[in-house]
Amino acid sequence: MEQEGPTGVAREPSFTAMWHAWMRNAHATGHRSPIFGDALSAQLVPEPVRQDVAALMGGFSGKAADALILMAVVRYRLLADRLAAANDRGIEQFVILGAGLDTTALSLPAFAQGWRVFEVDHPATQEWKRQQLAALGWRLPANLVFAPCDFEAQKLLDALDAVGFERDRPALVSLFGVILYLTADATKTLLRELASLAPDSEVVISYSPPPGGPDPVLQEVWGKSSPKVDETGESFIGHYTASQLDQLARDAGFRDTVQYSVETLNATYLAGRLDDLELHAIEQLIIAIR
Ligand SMILES: C[S@@+](CC[C@H](N)C(=O)[O-])C[C@H]1O[C@@H](n2cnc3c(N)ncnc32)[C@H](O)[C@@H]1O
Repeated sequence: MEQEGPTGVAREPSFTAMWHAWMRNAHATGHRSPIFGDALSAQLVPEPVRQDVAALMGGFSGKAADALILMAVVRYRLLADRLAAANDRGIEQFVILGAGLDTTALSLPAFAQGWRVFEVDHPATQEWKRQQLAALGWRLPANLVFAPCDFEAQKLLDALDAVGFERDRPALVSLFGVILYLTADATKTLLRELASLAPDSEVVISYSPPPGGPDPVLQEVWGKSSPKVDETGESFIGHYTASQLDQLARDAGFRDTVQYSVETLNATYLAGRLDDLELHAIEQLIIAIR
């Protein structure tokens, strides 16, 4: 059902969030030796949307489809490492921004069972997800808190304050597949707010470099997916090079950054495979450190 966002603009639940959940399942169930196993979040995707996504993915070459699927999972693979590192530093708050159908809160490692987890998303998508969770009868962990927020119109910290986030304590934050859909102003504001979190906080961010360049896989990915997202109202508007994103994070006030190029990610998570799965630069990852 169509819903009103706080900006007054009617907005459907995010199609791209369902698409990404579908891709995580495709990796978990369709690729040998998955680097990250999430077959849970796709269960939230209604059947007609599954068919829609399957049709979209069927229009890509095998290489481009695999590159998209790997893009959707490698961020979670890195996050698993950063969760463990955050635990070593004594962090006990985890904020999932633009959560979509993310089910990390339902499958946290044992060490994080006592953490407080904050899922933040656009109100239309979050409300829809909560209805799906209720309809499926899934029991939600007591440490999970939902905070609706439209990053184009609201302040993240207000949304977090309202649900008991402890600003004086550090947090691990994920920001996956969101910047691509935000205006430059909203991205700057969001990064500034995140840079004001307590020292030792860390934000794991995925972002997409500008389309173009010689890689035919990238040309195919952007060429074939753009019309679909334009149709669903989630146009790709926020592309950044690695140096631009690095500068944005530093200008926002982060103390340091660590870039994860596609080459690094391939070497770290996909080396020595018997298949020829490899990442292409649809997305890159960066950690911004407070
Ligand atoms: C491609 S999905 C990514 C979902 C999830 N992070 C993942 O990796 O699967 C994009 C997400 O960004 C959220 N988003 C887009 N624009 C937003 C905004 N203005 N405010 C809050 N969330 C937004 C959508 O609701 C959606 O959940």
